[in-house]
Amino acid sequence: MTPDETTPDIAQLQISADATLRQALEQLGTTARGILLLVGSDGTLLRTITDGDLRRLLLDGADLDDTIAALPDQAPVTLAVGWTARSALALMNERSIHQLPVVDDANRPVELVLRSDIDTPILLSTPHMSDLEQDFVAEAFETNWVAPLGPNVDAFEVEMAEYLGAGAAAALSSGTAAIHLGLRLLGVESGDTVFCSDLTFVASVNPVRYQGAEPVFIDSEPESWNMSPSALAEALDDAKARGTLPKAVIVVDLYGQSADFDPIAEISETHGVPILEDAAESLGATYKGRASGTFGRVGALSFNGNKIITSSGGGMLVADDEALMERARHLATQARAPAPHYEHTEIGYNYRMSNVLAGVGRGQLRVLDERVDARRDVFARYEKGLGDIEGVAFMPEAEYGRSNRWLSVMTLDPSATPLTPSRLIASLSEDQIEARHVWKPMHMQPLYADRPLFTHDSSGAFSARAFAQGVCLPSGSNMTVGQQDRVITAIHRAFERC
Ligand SMILES: Cc1ncc(COP(=O)(O)O)c(C=O)c1O
Repeated sequence: MTPDETTPDIAQLQISADATLRQALEQLGTTARGILLLVGSDGTLLRTITDGDLRRLLLDGADLDDTIAALPDQAPVTLAVGWTARSALALMNERSIHQLPVVDDANRPVELVLRSDIDTPILLSTPHMSDLEQDFVAEAFETNWVAPLGPNVDAFEVEMAEYLGAGAAAALSSGTAAIHLGLRLLGVESGDTVFCSDLTFVASVNPVRYQGAEPVFIDSEPESWNMSPSALAEALDDAKARGTLPKAVIVVDLYGQSADFDPIAEISETHGVPILEDAAESLGATYKGRASGTFGRVGALSFNGNKIITSSGGGMLVADDEALMERARHLATQARAPAPHYEHTEIGYNYRMSNVLAGVGRGQLRVLDERVDARRDVFARYEKGLGDIEGVAFMPEAEYGRSNRWLSVMTLDPSATPLTPSRLIASLSEDQIEARHVWKPMHMQPLYADRPLFTHDSSGAFSARAFAQGVCLPSGSNMTVGQQDRVITAIHRAFERC
C-alpha cells in the first residue's frame, strides 16, 4: 500500500539481530503495526517478530538487555511483489495472521500488507449519510406519516426547487419514473419518435418504449462526452425533411457533467421540439453558473443508492411550470379525478415518493455541496496519481461548467498501452476494488440495435470509443484518502503486470 503520513516506512519496521529486546519492544510500540522484520546484514528478511515472540523470550528467562539474536529461526510467511488483495487474504486466512511482508526477488522486504487495509472491498459509489437524515425519518415515524405523501415529500420538493432555482418539483419513486412521467407530460405517445443521448444508462431511453414511441440516438461530442449539438442538428434536419420531427429530445448529463445546453436548446427550439433533461447523474453540477436539471421543459433527477445523494431510491421531476408539476403529481397518484368516489378518466401511475424516503432525501440535500466537493477531490487525486501513466487520460471537464464528478472516468488509449478496460477491471477485482465499464451505448444494445444513430462526425461513433476505452473508478464521497491511494496503487500494479 502507498504509505500515508501515519504509515511507517518499511525501513522503520526493520530490525537487526544485535538490537536488544527493550529496543525491539520500543520499536514495536512506535511503529504500531504489531510486527517487526528481522533482517540480515544484506537486508534480506530472516523472520518476522511479534510482541508474543518477545514476551515468550522474556518468560523463558531472557533479560530486556539481551539481544534478539536469541530468537529461534523461523521461516517468514511472505508475499511476492505483484500480490493481489485476494491472494494476500487467502494466505492470511490460511495462516491465521493479519500482516504479511512483501519481499522482492532478493528476499528483501519492500512493503507490509495489513489485513485491515485490504479486507474491505472498495465499491464504485456507495450511500454517504450525514447525521441529518435520521431526524427527518424519525419525525415521519413519530407523526405516522409513513405514506407516499406527507410533510417531508412537500418540503423536499420545495427545498429541491429552491436549491436548483426551478419553479417547482414533484418527488417520485425513481428517476426512471421521472423520465417516463416527463415524456407523458410532453405528449409522447404511441407512434412518436424521441431523440435521446446514445451514451447513457438504459433507463434514459426505456420510458420512450413504455409510451409506445421509438428512440433515435444522438452521439456524444469529445469535449464533454454529452450530446453532440452538430449531430442533433443533422438529426433534426433529417427528421424535418421526412416530416417526422420527434416529440421530445432526452438530453443526458453524463457522469455528472452538463451537456452544452446553449446550442442544444437553440437547435431544438428552432424545430419546436421540447427538451427533457436527464440529470439523474448530475445533481449539484452547473452549466454557465446555472444548476444542472433546469435546462429542459422538464428535468429528471435520481436518488438511487449509487447517486451523489440518495433517498435509498427515488427520483424527482423539476420544471419552471408549477401547473405542469401539479399535473405530474396527479398522474403519479393514479390520476384520480376530483370526485367523492374513485373516478378515473385517464391512465395514471403509482409513482409518488414515500414520506419516509423523502426524509432521507431532505437530510442529504443539506450536504449535497459537500458531496460534490468530495467527489471532485477524489477525481483530482486520481488525476494526480495516475495522469502520468502512458496511455491514461480522464473524462474532460468542459470549460462551460462545473461537473459534480459523480463517477471518475479514466480512459486507456489502445495505441499506447496493452491494458484494456476489461483487464483493468478484472485486475482491480482481484484487489477487492470495484470498477466498471463506461455505459455501453444504446445503439450497440441488442434491445435497440435496429434504431438509427446520428454520429458526431464521420470518424464513427464517439460513444463507441468511450465505451471501448473508458473505466469508471470508485468515486464515493465517503472514500478515505487511504482507499483512494489503494485504488491508485492497484492501478499502477495492473499496469506493471500487463
Ligand atoms: C442517466 C440515468 N438516467 C436515469 C437513471 C434512472 O434512475 P433510477 O435508478 O432512479 O430509476 C439513472 C440511474 O439509475 C441514470 O444514470
